[in-house]
Amino acid sequence: MNAMDFAGELQGRHIVLGLSGGAACFKAAEYCRLLTKAGATVQVVMTEAACQFITPVAMQALSGRPVYVSQWDARPDNAMAHINLSREADAIVVAPASADFIAQLAQGRAGELLALLCLARPIEQVPLLLAPAMNREMWAHPATQRNLRQVAQDGAQVLGVAHGAQACGEFGDGRMLEAAELLEELIAFLAPKSLLGQRVLITAGPTFEAIDPVRGITNLSSGKMGFAIARAAREAGAEVTLVAGPVHLPTPRGVHRIDVGSARQMHAAATGHAQHAHIFIATAAVADWRPASAAEHKIKKDGSGQVPQLGFVENPDILADIAHSARAQAGELYCVGFAAESQDLQANAQAKRVRKGVPLLVANLGPATFGKDDNALLLVDDEGVTELPRASKRHLAQQLIHEIARRVSGLDA
Ligand code: C5P
Repeated sequence: MNAMDFAGELQGRHIVLGLSGGAACFKAAEYCRLLTKAGATVQVVMTEAACQFITPVAMQALSGRPVYVSQWDARPDNAMAHINLSREADAIVVAPASADFIAQLAQGRAGELLALLCLARPIEQVPLLLAPAMNREMWAHPATQRNLRQVAQDGAQVLGVAHGAQACGEFGDGRMLEAAELLEELIAFLAPKSLLGQRVLITAGPTFEAIDPVRGITNLSSGKMGFAIARAAREAGAEVTLVAGPVHLPTPRGVHRIDVGSARQMHAAATGHAQHAHIFIATAAVADWRPASAAEHKIKKDGSGQVPQLGFVENPDILADIAHSARAQAGELYCVGFAAESQDLQANAQAKRVRKGVPLLVANLGPATFGKDDNALLLVDDEGVTELPRASKRHLAQQLIHEIARRVSGLDA
């Protein structure tokens, strides 16, 4: 993800960014920058150990606010930095969270300002997110794992760690997540959880229908809308499986991605996962036809001027098949289709909704949206039409997930 993907996402949010000691402090500097770019105000609080790795001056310059280190800081009128700082925050994120810092939290210790304000926070109102960073042996140590379980049980959200090269020269688990990943995690954490407990299956992107080993037929779908929907669904608390055709897009964090090539591969993957899903959203631009047979070897030009004759056969309709499955018919699987039209959006969308047998169809103007970062959508269901005016695909995906969640929870009621 690039920084633009997060613009404005944390507007109006106030984040306390805590740094405990560790080489990963340099990533906290970048994280602080990304938080402010996303619109958050950031109050940095550092432990003495963190100050060995990066200076409070650097963090002040990046956050635009004086940094707090000591609980004896005389600046607050009431001399209670731990109370003031923890009450103002929408969330406290400790990145890096060292093994020692996590051990302090596990025991409810408050020897330094950062641990003190974590302890003093109103647990129900101010979430605490921890981004651990440490050597692989420290990470794997039973004491650390015990402390992690304890802090999670006490209400902290422990973010994962990455696997890879470590500052100490060793290789393994315990690397802190990258700044952009931490930002994605925080945005997801703060999003309303309208799809908690739901399993969502999404198809996205084009398909590739082989002519021979080096050629094939595909289309201009970028997959951006489907990927944005997968991200929004995961942020809303769903367990998301994304069946993706050939696209060059990063996998949204926390989303299970299955890469496929042809329509038949997409059909097999989607119908398999549809057995366990609660919601199916078909955004893929599936090829309607494929070459009747794919040549085993590259078709050669023989100089005679003769061109190969391609015959076509129809591909399976993934959406129609899943929408007509027993689970969908029994109301256990809510199916959403997309329609890329070039004219008469509403009439075509209504007709397609009936033809595909889906409760909700989302129409957009095909040629105007492929590859673009924004779009406009028309939602058609048996209640009528809902318009989602032109906006970024990111914003539309969030709105669409909200609309789907509303309809699905209506089903349960
Ligand atoms: O029939 P048409 O391609 O216009 O329908 C579009 C909708 O059907 C989209 O939701 C698309 O993902 C889905 N579809 C499918 N399998 C196909 C063709 C379309 O799932 N073979």
